[in-house]
Amino acid sequence: MKYTSISQIEKLKAEGEKFSCLTAYDATFAGLMSKVGIDVILIGDSLGNVIQGQQTTVPVTLEDMEYHIACVARGNKSCLLIGDMPYMTYSTPEEAYQTARRIMQAGAKMVKLEGGAWLEDTIRGLTDRGIPVCTHLGLTPQSVDSLGGFKVQGRDSSAAKSMLADAKRLQEAGARMLVLECVPSALAKEIAQTLTIPVMGIGAGVEVDGQVLVLHDMLGISPFQAKFVKNFMAEAQGDITAAIQQFHDEVKAKTFPAPEHSFE
Ligand code: KIV
Ligand code: NA
Repeated sequence: MKYTSISQIEKLKAEGEKFSCLTAYDATFAGLMSKVGIDVILIGDSLGNVIQGQQTTVPVTLEDMEYHIACVARGNKSCLLIGDMPYMTYSTPEEAYQTARRIMQAGAKMVKLEGGAWLEDTIRGLTDRGIPVCTHLGLTPQSVDSLGGFKVQGRDSSAAKSMLADAKRLQEAGARMLVLECVPSALAKEIAQTLTIPVMGIGAGVEVDGQVLVLHDMLGISPFQAKFVKNFMAEAQGDITAAIQQFHDEVKAKTFPAPEHSFE
C-alpha cells in the first residue's frame, strides 16, 4: 500500500523498530515529510499555538482542524495521518462520533483524543464503528487549566500507577495508539513495554516505540523551547529538508531523544 497504515506501525513495534512522527498543518510540509519518509503526520491542535498564536489549544475549533487536515491530506504522499479532536468536541460518545466523522472525512486515517479511563466508552464506541483511535496521556494540553500549567506528569508513584492502569484500560477499550507527553522516562518505558499498541513519546524518553515533535519546535522557530525539544535546524545549517531527515534518522537510530531531552 502506498500510504503507511496503522498495521505497519504495529509491525514496527513488534520488530523493535522505532517510528517517526511530526506535526504538519499544510500541504507543502506534508509533501516534504512524505519525501523524507516520516512515518506518521499528526495534524495537532498545537496549530492553536504555532499557527494561530494562541496561548493554549483550548480556542481551537473543529472547523480549524478540518481545514488543516484537508490541507495536509492534499500534500501527503505516504504518511499515516492522525487528526486531533479539539477541545470539548468529544465530551460524550455521541458527540465524539460526530466529531470523528468530520475529522475522518477531512482526510485523517485515525483520530486522537486526550484523557484517561473516562474515555473508555467513547473509545469502544469509535472502535466498534471502524474508527482507529489514538489516545494521549501525561501532559494533556486541553486540560492545562485543570493541571495548573505545563508540567511533567506521573512523577509520584500513585500518579504513575494510575497512568499505567489508564493506559491498559484504553488499550482494552480498543485504542490502537497512545501518545505520552512529559512523562518520566522509566514510567514511559514501562507503559510501552506493557502495552501491545504503539506508544509515541514527546518528552517521554527514548524507550518508547516512536517519537513525535511539533514541527515549529524542531525547526527552532517557536518562541519558547521546552527541555524535550531539539533544534534540528541548527545542525542542518538552515536546510529544512535536512532537519526533518536528521530527526527521522535520529529517531530510527534511537539517538533522539538523548537524556538531556528527557525527564528522570
Ligand atoms: O497537538 C499536538 O501537536 C500534539 C502533540 C504534541 C502530541 O498533540
Ligand atoms: Na494535540
